[in-house]
Amino acid sequence: MQKKWWHQAVIYQIYPKSFRDTNGDGIGDLQGIISKLDYLDYLGITAIWLSPVYQSPMDDNGYDISDYEAIAHEFGSMADMEMLLTEARRRGIRIIMDLVVNHTSDEHAWFIEAKANPSSPEREYYIWRDEPNALDSIFGGSAWEYDDASGQYYLHFFGKKQPDLNWENPVLRQKIYDMMNFWIDKGIAGFRMDVIDMIGKIPDRLIANNGPKLHDYLKEMHSQTLCGKDLLTVGETWGATPDIAKQYSRQENHELSMVFQFEHIGLQHEEGKDKWSYTDLDVPRLKSILSKWQTDLGVTEGWNSLFWNNHDLPRVLSIWGNSGVYREKSAKALAILLHLMRGTPYIYQGEEIGMTNYPFENLDQINDLESLHFAKEASTKGVSQEAILDAIRVVGRDNARTPMQWDNTENAGFSNGKPWLAVNPNYKTINVAKALADKSSIFYTYKALVNLRKTQDWLVEADYEILTTADKVFAYLRKNEEKTYLVVVNLSDESQSFSSRYDMVSEVIANRPYPKTLKKVDLEPWGAFCVEVE
Ligand code: GLC
Ligand code: CA
Repeated sequence: MQKKWWHQAVIYQIYPKSFRDTNGDGIGDLQGIISKLDYLDYLGITAIWLSPVYQSPMDDNGYDISDYEAIAHEFGSMADMEMLLTEARRRGIRIIMDLVVNHTSDEHAWFIEAKANPSSPEREYYIWRDEPNALDSIFGGSAWEYDDASGQYYLHFFGKKQPDLNWENPVLRQKIYDMMNFWIDKGIAGFRMDVIDMIGKIPDRLIANNGPKLHDYLKEMHSQTLCGKDLLTVGETWGATPDIAKQYSRQENHELSMVFQFEHIGLQHEEGKDKWSYTDLDVPRLKSILSKWQTDLGVTEGWNSLFWNNHDLPRVLSIWGNSGVYREKSAKALAILLHLMRGTPYIYQGEEIGMTNYPFENLDQINDLESLHFAKEASTKGVSQEAILDAIRVVGRDNARTPMQWDNTENAGFSNGKPWLAVNPNYKTINVAKALADKSSIFYTYKALVNLRKTQDWLVEADYEILTTADKVFAYLRKNEEKTYLVVVNLSDESQSFSSRYDMVSEVIANRPYPKTLKKVDLEPWGAFCVEVE
């Protein structure tokens, strides 16, 4: 395996709309990100994954792009974007752009032309059929929308305002590669590729993910854009298995650096059902899934990413940790558990201070189109308003999107205006200023973990081995030729005990006093530690 910078990187995801507003319109902006670069530098992260900042009608908050080479006016200008690149580079921070090329906005010039002029070349950039088939949109309802003027239906796997692109069309593919090169030339460090496993879709055969030509397209994309450049690419691949992940990320394959796999996230809901059928965490299954990904990708065959959170997922403390008395403790425990595994860790904004889900009380407080689609469909099926709100409170996407909590002043220091989405009422106790002032806060555990990732080679190379323990204790070893490290985490609100035959050599990181012996350790709720052993 050729060693790359991203093997020892920690990536911080910014959802621009909710990070920091500098002009009082209630919407985060690029100048807001620039104003917080020193904070991110202090945390120590290597790169920022910027959720989309391109021109967009914002139906899906930027995941519906109307111009790939322009910046959304809400967020600023191209000059602001260039300033962000320069200011980030000055601090050694790289910028990774979100690449949303499974679909565009229906307000993209291509789609406008495709609709207005069915004989235009742009018509072929999208997918049109005379009759709809059984394909459903991920946001609910049919994936086909009727266009009156031409009497045909277009495909949209997401919202109606997000028509799917037709990757079979070589002209379209070239336009996308040109656009990627436009951004590469501006000095970005890579791409996070939105629902990339859907670009090989074959709608007539009801194939959405992992279509037969997917890997050919990625190889072509690589040769036209990424080849010979030291960029990070991470694919959002809901349908990946370890074997598929190897195909994407094996270096000789020239596709992607790594993928986001979502198998562990699947434990948030009942098996075989949709995300709204949320359920309690099954710790033994979490152990087996994460361990499978640690071992099956191998050291040289593939590379994984490590994450609990992103802008589509509930806050991890609310769904799997403890957002009450053990908030600090469980946040540190989950961070220690994840960051000491093999792969590239991602931190989602606010995770480093232990932000939690929002106590939504009615649908007027909801912005997310997926949640609103769900509410509509569920209520036609007779589901009660309370049950709908319960589900949204647990897994709705807006939980991750409430404004970043900077301090205890009005609007949590996010904005001087009215925030586009309400600030979590807990901002007076959970905010960056408070976390920075307390050396024992969650922030400093993340800072220490980021530093370990950048300095400890064993995190990249060492083998992984799960240990047999009590159900709710997650313990594993990382072992290379010279050294062995032990990680032990209590994933519960109850005391647990742990025993092993190892002896302690040195301390690495913990959210509790280090044990005196490893023969028998009494772990308090959410206790976690890592030590070198022999
Ligand atoms: C991805 C994004 C999500 C978006 C969807 C459609 O899953 O992460 O936010 O709604 O793709 O672009
Ligand atoms: Ca603003």
